[in-house]
Amino acid sequence: MRLAVFASGEGSNFQSIVDAAESGALKARVVLCVSNNPSAGVLDRATKSKIPVLVLNPSEFSDPDGYTSSLRAKLIEFETDFIALAGYMKMIPAEIVNEYSDHIVNIHPALLPAFGGPGMYGRRVHQAVLESGADESGATVHLVDEEYDTGPIVLQESVPVRPEDTPDSLAARVLKVEHRIYPRALALFEENRVKIDGRNVTILET
Ligand code: GRF
Repeated sequence: MRLAVFASGEGSNFQSIVDAAESGALKARVVLCVSNNPSAGVLDRATKSKIPVLVLNPSEFSDPDGYTSSLRAKLIEFETDFIALAGYMKMIPAEIVNEYSDHIVNIHPALLPAFGGPGMYGRRVHQAVLESGADESGATVHLVDEEYDTGPIVLQESVPVRPEDTPDSLAARVLKVEHRIYPRALALFEENRVKIDGRNVTILET
């Protein structure tokens, strides 16, 4: 598996994927780190691990096709066969979503289909969970389609919501789970254990 990881922020999920690839728990090579944000922490992490970076901000292209073709060219250059979105704040062009159909996943810091969709990112997700009174939250790895957070679910793990939680304490608890399930989900794809039938995803036993 030749993986490109897209991230806009700190990159702790990126790091968990790189660490799993380095330890051999995930038989993948992270070939490229893509970010829209030139000051994202993830870029330092990638540089430390000697992973090539591509900084591409869609809003700096006068023509959206220019952005799509620049991105595509890099994915081809690095022979990317799988994409993991890890806190990436921009929409992936439909053409690329279609090209990587069933080979592009995202992680979301809640139990989808609840608390997802446009505007549901970062702290806002955890704030909404707390306001709802839900007694559990969690993390979801899902396939990416052309909408936000609507693709078929691959893996989920829940965490309790505690009465004293703040958005930050809940985020920290969820993030620990993210770091565990994202590399695991990618390993399942690498081992050909993810069977996708429309919106139905089955994990095959070994
Ligand atoms: C994670 O909570 C991820 O689920 C969300 O953005 C956050 C990114 O964190 N989509 P990091 O950059 O991986 O540390």
